[in-house]
Amino acid sequence: MIIVVANSKGGVGKSTLAVHLAAWLHEQGHKVTLADCDTQQSSSEWIREAIPEIKAVRLDNSDIILNELPILAQDADYVVADGPGSQTETSRALLLRGDLAIVPCKASMLEVRALAKATEVLRQAQDIRGGIPKAIIVLSMVGKNYRLT
Ligand SMILES: Nc1ncnc2c1ncn2[C@@H]1O[C@H](COP(=O)(O)OP(=O)(O)OP(=O)(O)O)[C@@H](O)[C@H]1O
Ligand SMILES: [Mg+2]
Repeated sequence: MIIVVANSKGGVGKSTLAVHLAAWLHEQGHKVTLADCDTQQSSSEWIREAIPEIKAVRLDNSDIILNELPILAQDADYVVADGPGSQTETSRALLLRGDLAIVPCKASMLEVRALAKATEVLRQAQDIRGGIPKAIIVLSMVGKNYRLT
């Protein structure tokens, strides 16, 4: 299964969520590969330091993502792909290959209102692929006392 963590907004918690999800799946006994698709390469560096047993690969352009993701998926129970904060073509390639999209969204009214724009590429992919990838929005950095919560 290819799980893509995507939101074209920067700094919403994609890499943090991707690393924690990969680590958790690994702890559950699954074979996990982390695909770092962001040029900042923060998630692959982080996972190499935290859990070196998890295979981490860097896929840094849309053609490589389209070609390599299915090959990586053959050799793992889960591929967790950390998406970039901006480059649309990279996000598009990820969403054309992913089985499930996780969309972290900061728990603030401005961010929630910006979701429609931030998920435009997701909707295009779902339109092309008959509803795939299924998507889950995860509120991140939630404050207990926020009205939104
Ligand atoms: N659940 C959380 N609670 C508190 N802080 C968080 C949480 N998730 C992420 N952060 C912090 O928010 C900042 C941005 O997180 P992160 O780098 O994971 O976002 P990103 O979406 O991957 O950013 P980019 O778009 O630049 O790749 C970091 O400083 C991180 O430590
Ligand atoms: Mg990131």
